[in-house]
Amino acid sequence: MTSFSYTPPTDRSVTFPDGFLWGAATAAYQVEGAAHEDGRRDSIWDTFSRVPGAVLDAHNGDVACDQYHRYADDAKLMADLGIQTYRFSTSWARVRPDGVSGPEGVNAQGLDYYSRLVDSLLDNNILPWLTLYHWDLPQALEDQGGWANRDVVDLFVEYAMTVHDALGDRVRVWTTLNEPWCSSFLSYTAGVHAPGRTSPADGLAAAHHLLLAHGKTIQELRSAAPDAELGITLNFTVPDPVDPSNPDDVDAARRIDAQFNRVFADPIFRGEYPADLLEDLAAVGLREGFDKVVHDGDLEIISTPIDALGVNYYHGEANSKTPPPDSLVGDAPVERETRSPYPAADGVYVHPRGLPVTDQDWEIQPEGLTRLLRRLHAEYTGPAGVKLYITENGCAFDDVADDNDFVDDQNRLNFYDLHLRAVHEAIESGVPVHGYFAWSLLDNYEWAWGYHKRFGIVRVNYETLERTVKASGEWYRTVATTNTVPA
Ligand code: BG6
Repeated sequence: MTSFSYTPPTDRSVTFPDGFLWGAATAAYQVEGAAHEDGRRDSIWDTFSRVPGAVLDAHNGDVACDQYHRYADDAKLMADLGIQTYRFSTSWARVRPDGVSGPEGVNAQGLDYYSRLVDSLLDNNILPWLTLYHWDLPQALEDQGGWANRDVVDLFVEYAMTVHDALGDRVRVWTTLNEPWCSSFLSYTAGVHAPGRTSPADGLAAAHHLLLAHGKTIQELRSAAPDAELGITLNFTVPDPVDPSNPDDVDAARRIDAQFNRVFADPIFRGEYPADLLEDLAAVGLREGFDKVVHDGDLEIISTPIDALGVNYYHGEANSKTPPPDSLVGDAPVERETRSPYPAADGVYVHPRGLPVTDQDWEIQPEGLTRLLRRLHAEYTGPAGVKLYITENGCAFDDVADDNDFVDDQNRLNFYDLHLRAVHEAIESGVPVHGYFAWSLLDNYEWAWGYHKRFGIVRVNYETLERTVKASGEWYRTVATTNTVPA
C-alpha cells in the first residue's frame, strides 16, 4: 500500500460555514456501464479503449460500476453517507447517440435513465448536480472532425437543451463542461485521452470550440431557466518556478499557467485569450491558424456571465526549462506515441519536489489548493460575483481490502483531511467557497488507467460489483453530517 508521512493536524476541528454543500462526484463513462443498452451508441471512449496500447490492459467502460442498473441503491448509499449533492454527468452518446440534429436524433430510453436517476436522488434528498459533458463525445461526431470541427458546437447546444427539456423541471444546477483542458489538449494534442490525436492546432481548435459550446449553452439555459445555477468546471494546476530567481524557470511556470489555467479562465471571465499565450503561439507558428478558429463575436458569447465555477484540484507542479534528475510519472500509462499537451511549452519540465505522492505519483500538495482558491477569488470569481465550489479533489491509493472487502484507507482519509483544512483556510481568509465534492464516490474507470487506480470513498468489487464503504467514506460521513472536519 502506498503510504505517506503526513500527520494531519489533529489539534483542532474545523467547522465549515452554514449551508456548505457536501457532495461526491462521478462521470457517466466511468460508472454507468450498459454501454450497448437501450439505444446508446459508441462514444470516443468506447472506440479509444479498443486502440492497442491506449488504455492500461485495454480496460473499457462496458460494465464499469454498473450504475445504469444500480443507481437506486447508489442513491440510498449516498444518503446513508450524508452526501447532500451528487455530481454526475449525462452521456451525449446515450441521449443523442448518432449526433443527428432534430427530434429524430433523440434516444428516449437514454433520457429515461437520467430521469429515473434524478428521481432517485430527489427521493433521497440529494441535490442533482448535472454536468453535460465529461468527455464522451459520440463517435459519429468524432468521425466528422470532433471538437476540432466548429459544427459540433451547435450540436452540443442542441444535446444540452434536449437534456434540459427532459430534466429541467427537477434539476436546478447545470455545469456545461468538465475540464475542457483534458477534452482538448490531453485528447487532441497529447493523444493520451480519446480520441487520441496529437496535433497542437487541433487541440487549440477543440479548446475554442468547447468554450464556444459552453457560452452558447449558458445563453440557452439562462433563457430557458432563469433561476437555475449555471456554471463550468475547470481543472487547475498551481505552477511554481523551480527556482524563482531563474528567469527561465519563471517563464516555464508562466507558460504552464497560460496554457493550462488562463487559456480557459481568461476567455470565460474576461472575454479574451491571454496576450502572452497568443505571443507564444505566434512564436511557434500556431497563431495564424488559431486566429482563424476564433470568429468575431465568439469571445462575447464565451464570456456570458455564469453563476458558479467548479474547481478540480489534484496537485500543482514545479516547472523549469532544465530537465529534472528524475522525472515524475506523466498523466497516463500509454504505450503509443504521444506528445506534450502544451502547444507552446516544448522544453518545459516538471521537477519532483520530494513531496509525498499518491499511487499515481501525483504530488500531495494541499497548500496549493489554498493558494489556488485565493487567486481565483481575487482575479476571477470575486470580481465577477461567481460562486466557487470544489467539484473534484481526491486521490488514488493502492487499496488492500480485507475478507469483508473493507479498506482501511487511512492514507486517503488523511489526504481528504489535509485538503479540507486547506479549503477551510481559504474560507477563513475571505474566499467564499460554497461546497466540496469528493472524487470519487466509487472506484471507477479511470480513463487511460482503466480500473487500475482506485479513487473511491466506496470500494467497488469489480467481480461482484458490490459496494463497500471504506474508512475514508465513514470519515466523510462524519464530516458531511457535522459540517466539521474532526480533530
Ligand atoms: C479528473 C477527471 O481529471 O481526474 C476525472 O475529471 C478523473 O474524470 C480524475 O477520473 C482522475 O484522473 P485519472 O487520470 O486518474 O482518471
